[in-house]
Amino acid sequence: MHGAVEGIGYLVGTWRGEGRGLYPTIDSFAYMEELTFSHPDPRKPVLIYSQRTWSPITSLPMHSESGFWRPKLDGSLEVVLAQSTGLVEVQKGTFDADQKVICLKSDLVGNASKVKEITRVFKLVDGELSYVVEMATALTSLQPHLKAVLRKV
Ligand code: HEM
Repeated sequence: MHGAVEGIGYLVGTWRGEGRGLYPTIDSFAYMEELTFSHPDPRKPVLIYSQRTWSPITSLPMHSESGFWRPKLDGSLEVVLAQSTGLVEVQKGTFDADQKVICLKSDLVGNASKVKEITRVFKLVDGELSYVVEMATALTSLQPHLKAVLRKV
């Protein structure tokens, strides 16, 4: 494993779990999710990330996204993502290797009709990876849109 990746190395693998979507302007909904992180080249400080979600009711695919997580030795982290909706984002933030907390905030949101800002916070507690995604749109301030809890498979 590349030295810069070690602080978030616990992410490597496949995670599955359940989430809930919400926002002041929509009906809340449940979703199933799988996240995969891989680190194929120990010479490079990069994790390859992919996410897919599906309906717990119909099993049909919902949102998906993929990208690259790029940690640095100083505890900073950059994530570049492409979403199935066409939205692209560059997230910047920090990771705490001891507390196993990752905090990200959008530095760039592109090709989005409504979204202005996105934050993502991940925590590992007792082997469970949980996260909260908040977003701001042109009409709504920063509010939670996604909350999920996943376990490694
Ligand atoms: C609604 C963005 C992730 C499912 C929305 C809306 C936006 C949005 C802008 C419309 C809100 C409004 O009209 O005020 C995003 C962004 C995401 C994300 C930026 C990731 C960072 C997801 C995921 C799922 C999902 C992972 C499903 C697992 C939905 C659903 C709605 C919705 C069902 C309501 C129906 C609809 O408008 O299509 N999302 N979303 N979203 N989102 Fe997301």
